[in-house]
Amino acid sequence: MDSKECSFVILISGRGSNMRSIVTRMAKSSGPRRGKVCAVISNNPDANGLKWANDQGIETCVVNHHDYPNRDLFDKRLAETIEKYQPDYILLAGFMRILTAEFVRKFQGKIINIHPSLLPSFPGLHTHQKAIDSGVLWHGCTVHLVTADLDAGPIIAQAAVPVLPEDDANTLSERVLSVEHQLYSEVVEGLIQGLISISGVNKIQVAQGVKTTFYKESNNVVHV
Ligand code: GRF
Repeated sequence: MDSKECSFVILISGRGSNMRSIVTRMAKSSGPRRGKVCAVISNNPDANGLKWANDQGIETCVVNHHDYPNRDLFDKRLAETIEKYQPDYILLAGFMRILTAEFVRKFQGKIINIHPSLLPSFPGLHTHQKAIDSGVLWHGCTVHLVTADLDAGPIIAQAAVPVLPEDDANTLSERVLSVEHQLYSEVVEGLIQGLISISGVNKIQVAQGVKTTFYKESNNVVHV
């Protein structure tokens, strides 16, 4: 890694609000090292986030999974596309495709995801409804390293929000999303500044004093 610049490819499938918060936070950084988003890649040509990224002057690219007969060939093309940019990290930000073990192996220790639950609770889809149905009082999000097992890689950071009695999946998802934006962009800033690093086989190192836990007590207050 260039000692002054840390580069990222971001994968999205839709709205791209986590991507936006990461790019915006990066632009505001006053740290000694710079972050750069080399490209935003989507499997969905209609992903709203692509237009926003384009408007920021970020290179965008579509690898449409419908154009490939199976997951292996899609992932092969996706890997080739990413390799052109030689990023330090690949950030999954609402990327709704399951990656093959071979893809994960190729980029071991470089793929990071945000998942909208406090893992290991509620892997997979519909996490907010599952949280409500299970009666938990706290829910949240997790930034983790991606391994071949779905939503099961080593945890880098987590943020918690309360589940309120009047919540439905929509209100809860909005509360979680607001901490997702903060958590993911802070982790990325930590990676850029070398305060969070990955070494060996998925070993996460966090410098002393770097906060990797957040919680939000009500709809307005975030404690960091
Ligand atoms: C987020 O809740 C993320 O955790 C999940 O999908 C959603 C994507 O939202 N994987 P956005 O595209 O970042 O707005």
